[in-house]
Amino acid sequence: MDYTLSHIVAAAENDVIGRQNKLPWHLPNDFRYFKNKTWGMPIIMGRKSFEALKEPLPGRMNIVITTQTGWKPEGAEIAHSIEDAIAQAQKADTREIFIIGGGEIFRQTMDVVSRIYLTRVHARVEGDTLYPQIDPDLWHRVQADSFAANDKNEYGYTFEVWERKEIAHKGVYSPGTLALKFVRYWWHARNGKGHGIHSPFIYDLVTRVLNDSKSYPCYHQIEPLRKALLKEDTVLRVDDFGAGSAVLASKDRKVRSIARSSLKDKKFAQLIFRLAQYYHPVTVVELGTSLGITSAYLASAYPDLNLYTFEGSGQIAQRAREVWQELGLDRIRLIQGDFDKTLEPSLESIRQVDMAFVDGNHRKDPTLRYFSMLKKRATPKSVFIFDDIHWSLEMEEAWGEIQKAPGVTVTVDLFFIGLVFFNPDFKAIQHFQIRF
Ligand SMILES: NC(=O)c1ccc[n+]([C@@H]2O[C@H](COP(=O)([O-])OP(=O)(O)OC[C@H]3O[C@@H](n4cnc5c(N)ncnc54)[C@H](OP(=O)(O)O)[C@@H]3O)[C@@H](O)[C@H]2O)c1
Repeated sequence: MDYTLSHIVAAAENDVIGRQNKLPWHLPNDFRYFKNKTWGMPIIMGRKSFEALKEPLPGRMNIVITTQTGWKPEGAEIAHSIEDAIAQAQKADTREIFIIGGGEIFRQTMDVVSRIYLTRVHARVEGDTLYPQIDPDLWHRVQADSFAANDKNEYGYTFEVWERKEIAHKGVYSPGTLALKFVRYWWHARNGKGHGIHSPFIYDLVTRVLNDSKSYPCYHQIEPLRKALLKEDTVLRVDDFGAGSAVLASKDRKVRSIARSSLKDKKFAQLIFRLAQYYHPVTVVELGTSLGITSAYLASAYPDLNLYTFEGSGQIAQRAREVWQELGLDRIRLIQGDFDKTLEPSLESIRQVDMAFVDGNHRKDPTLRYFSMLKKRATPKSVFIFDDIHWSLEMEEAWGEIQKAPGVTVTVDLFFIGLVFFNPDFKAIQHFQIRF
């Protein structure tokens, strides 16, 4: 089931949430709000917060995170890591999973949650535990209902709901979590040399494409441009699209900062070039042009390749066009605007999609939506490439659903990207993890 992972917290104006393992206020209305929101849902908390509660909260699956082994409080499940706690909560099959504190657990999960129910308590209070600051570049407030203090509730308060912004949601696992995941992938993945791979299709992919170490001429033309972008100080206006295609926010960013955060690195951009060269797609769709480096690699695979590339921001799209001009690539078709508005109508005039590279929106629902639109134009020979499949809980879920989608026969997980094939020669569906 599709679920939202949320924080629910009450914090003072100075972000204090606790003092000496207690709440520093008495707000019965907030207790009621908390109970209404979390009733019937799994709640995840740190061991200290659980002890502060004294007993498990009724009507909810209580999951307590601790490093201690052999400790099993009555009425609660135990988890030894955040990932383990979330995995246990998923078994409850609910629409929302709540992380309820305290400070340590909130800090470690700030990058993973997509919603925050924040009761802002209108007071500055002394305390020893803080809630992390909410970064307005990453979050927007979608609701705020304020109430005054009264004889039962000692301070005024506002029930706020914050949603993570769509586009700003890229690197959501913390670097530490991602590193651990990479280690796990490396251990479980098959040897990248192709040993022990029985499928000729995958063996060829590994030996002829993944391990092709030739230095192609386009590498030497495109990489100097990437280097220049990584140093460029020009400022561009970047639009952040929200639900309903309205521009939520515009932000000025230097080209070098955009290049640093959104260009696929050399190793993978060159792999995408080799995939296009090897599978020889007639028509390629790229979602997320950014500054045009991967598009340049794709368009260099062979002269007749038809590349349609989609970019949200007008000024970034213009800078990408200049990159292609410098490289003499004049056949790339760029469609600018919100993917939710541009992709479907554009696909109507594209007969088939032989290759797709989806690097546009690292959220689950949009990724699955784009996948389903593109899949309608797939052929048995198509290959789809998804970026950042392990970057966030949402992207891992999206990848899981893509693997199960009807028509998908083979997938290859290279950790930073995932490949999807529809090759009907595979009688049984197979999912490979290969070191790259
Ligand atoms: N205002 C609010 O909304 C709110 C909500 C909740 C709590 N609070 C307040 O917050 C305070 C408690 O917060 P806190 O930061 O001190 O503690 P906490 O986050 O509740 O619990 C910390 C404990 O969780 C375990 N833990 C944390 N990360 C872990 C990991 N990655 N793997 C395994 N175990 C892990 C450890 O338990 P072990 O030591 O057993 O290994 C650690 O000591 C209290 O004052 C409480 O009243 C306020």
